[in-house]
Amino acid sequence: MKNPVAELLGCRVPLICGAMGVLSGPELVAAVSGAGGFGVLATGFCTHPRQVRALVRSTRALTPAPIGINLQVMNPWCRDFLEAAADEGIRTVTVSGGNPADILARARELGMGTLVKAGTVKNALRAQDLGADAIIAAGTESGGIQGLSGAATLALVPAVADAVDVPVVAAGGIGDARGFLAALNLGASGVEMGTRFIATAECPAHESYKRAVTDAAPGDTVLLCMERFAVRTLRTPLTLRVERGEEVDLDQLAGPALEAAWLHGDSPGVLPAGQSVGVVNEVLPAARVVESLFKAWTGGYLPPGGRPYSA
Ligand SMILES: Cc1cc2nc3c(=O)[nH]c(=O)nc-3n(C[C@H](O)[C@H](O)[C@H](O)COP(=O)(O)O)c2cc1C
Repeated sequence: MKNPVAELLGCRVPLICGAMGVLSGPELVAAVSGAGGFGVLATGFCTHPRQVRALVRSTRALTPAPIGINLQVMNPWCRDFLEAAADEGIRTVTVSGGNPADILARARELGMGTLVKAGTVKNALRAQDLGADAIIAAGTESGGIQGLSGAATLALVPAVADAVDVPVVAAGGIGDARGFLAALNLGASGVEMGTRFIATAECPAHESYKRAVTDAAPGDTVLLCMERFAVRTLRTPLTLRVERGEEVDLDQLAGPALEAAWLHGDSPGVLPAGQSVGVVNEVLPAARVVESLFKAWTGGYLPPGGRPYSA
């Protein structure tokens, strides 16, 4: 089926597995891309371009399918990461977390496709003016870091789709085929999912993190607002302390040490996840997630009652 996002990414299903720090390991990214979706490697935690090169090479060893990388503008090395990725043959980048002007200009010179994450119509328009090929409209249901002035996906996506001329990818709160088809009906041409992919066989998250995601109800996440950004995470003893207004060391809420703990299961700290936890009830192979969306998409509709095609 013809679709502008699938065409831009060079994949079969307009489904991006969003960057998720150290959770976006080569196995997960390769499994998503290999099944016809689009896996994105995260670089926010990298401190040297050779780490980016190694991630790309490890993923390439697992699949010939197209993959992307995410560049977090606030990472001081992100320009170097872009050069390294281009050199390694990456054709598409997603850009988040700040003013994307310089990155977009250089990516265009390198002939790369660009998708910019925006949580507001204003930022979506700015990204379009700067030459983004597509906008990832990310609602406040999303797991992980976001801005402080966002809106829910249901309200944000149609507003962004009305405002811009480039294709829109919806992100935030989408956990199954129902959310995917709903996003298409809101004016998006594709979706980016993160939380759903934490609970996959190929995700390197510790079992306890995956279980916390599959056990959680939609209301079990909390948006922690900090000075310059907010982070949506599962409610934990630490987040309860923050909610009560107690002083908490910021390092416990973000940063590389925290991300490492996601893999080892020894963190009572912050476990980012979005409100789609409510429809993520079992750990599945990533390819099953991609396939279930493809089935729904090519079927064109869901049966009355909106029950998802079985994953
Ligand atoms: C654990 C975790 C880490 C994330 N890290 C990043 C990141 O490094 N860069 C980024 O642009 N988005 C990041 N995100 C956001 C995802 O890429 C994606 O946009 C989001 O999860 C979509 O919303 P959903 O969780 O409701 O599916 C992260 C999300 C999670 C859950």
